[in-house]
Amino acid sequence: MTRWLITGAGGMLGRDLCRLLAAGHVPVLPLTRHDLDLTDERAVGCALHRARPAVVVNCAAWTDVDAAESAEERALRVNGEAVRVLARACAATGARLLHVSTDYVFPGHAGPPYPEDAEPGPRTAYGRTKLAGERAVLAELPRAGTVVRTAWLYGPYGRNFVRTMAERAAGDGVVHVVDDQYGQPTATADVARRLMALGRGPLRPGVFHATAGGHTTWYELAREVFRLAGADPERVRPTDSGALGRPAPRPAWSVLGHDRWQTAGLPRPRHWRDALHAEFAAVAAGTAGADGTVSIQGGASCAR
Ligand SMILES: NC(=O)c1ccc[n+]([C@@H]2O[C@H](COP(=O)([O-])OP(=O)(O)OC[C@H]3O[C@@H](n4cnc5c(N)ncnc54)[C@H](OP(=O)(O)O)[C@@H]3O)[C@@H](O)[C@H]2O)c1
Repeated sequence: MTRWLITGAGGMLGRDLCRLLAAGHVPVLPLTRHDLDLTDERAVGCALHRARPAVVVNCAAWTDVDAAESAEERALRVNGEAVRVLARACAATGARLLHVSTDYVFPGHAGPPYPEDAEPGPRTAYGRTKLAGERAVLAELPRAGTVVRTAWLYGPYGRNFVRTMAERAAGDGVVHVVDDQYGQPTATADVARRLMALGRGPLRPGVFHATAGGHTTWYELAREVFRLAGADPERVRPTDSGALGRPAPRPAWSVLGHDRWQTAGLPRPRHWRDALHAEFAAVAAGTAGADGTVSIQGGASCAR
């Protein structure tokens, strides 16, 4: 059976993907940063030559958007240069690579949803480094490299907006949430299923957008979480991004189009509200349910 190797397997998306692969009895080698630091070129080559996976999914990334503004070179090492090394190792071993990227490659100006082939134009250091990674994958693996952009992730593992709002709903008082940014809240489980569909099917090089259908604001999302938690949504109050004063500007419009799924003969993503309702209990509890425990074990280390 096709073997999968997951980098960044200790992160929010990586853990959920490993859980779903394991639940589907797919042989998977989950590698956390501790098991495989992507910036260690020799270790990356060694891991792939040893494991000989058919599919590699890169869930590892520098994801601290604000910190990247003052540490762009360090972020680029992980999100750009290391991705090129990984893509070359995939080419050398005949693996296909599914590389996870972000809506931050776009400038975020309001308009129609960004199609997969829209011209990128990142406004943040994080976005520039992620775009460098995308370009490396598409250049090194023109037949076997797929970039999967996602956005506004939440899931049962790690800190995320939906979990934080569920916790706030359980307390008292009001919470102020920005209502001037539009996007597509996306469950990690949905991205994982999309990655699994891409990894199992024929090679589909190029770009896919793995975000939920529809769109909303963080404010409306918070209100929906409060409703689901049985709390009064009037406790959520609108504010604007300027009030937060963060180092990296957030895109005002993070709405991505999904036409490529249809062209590839795959179903379009479900609406964000349907996904949130389905996933909420597991996310709020911070557990993926009875089938959900996957022990993260490495084992691809090479003798120095
Ligand atoms: N979260 C979102 O809303 C969102 C939105 C758009 C796109 N994405 C993309 O989705 C992907 C997964 O994000 P996520 O939310 O799961 O992020 P995450 O929870 O921060 O996970 C990223 C993982 O990468 C690991 N990592 C960092 N540097 C590494 C290195 N040099 N070598 C190996 N592993 C390294 C981290 O390990 P440590 O924790 O030990 O540092 C962490 O486990 C990323 O490509 C991200 O850009 C996420």
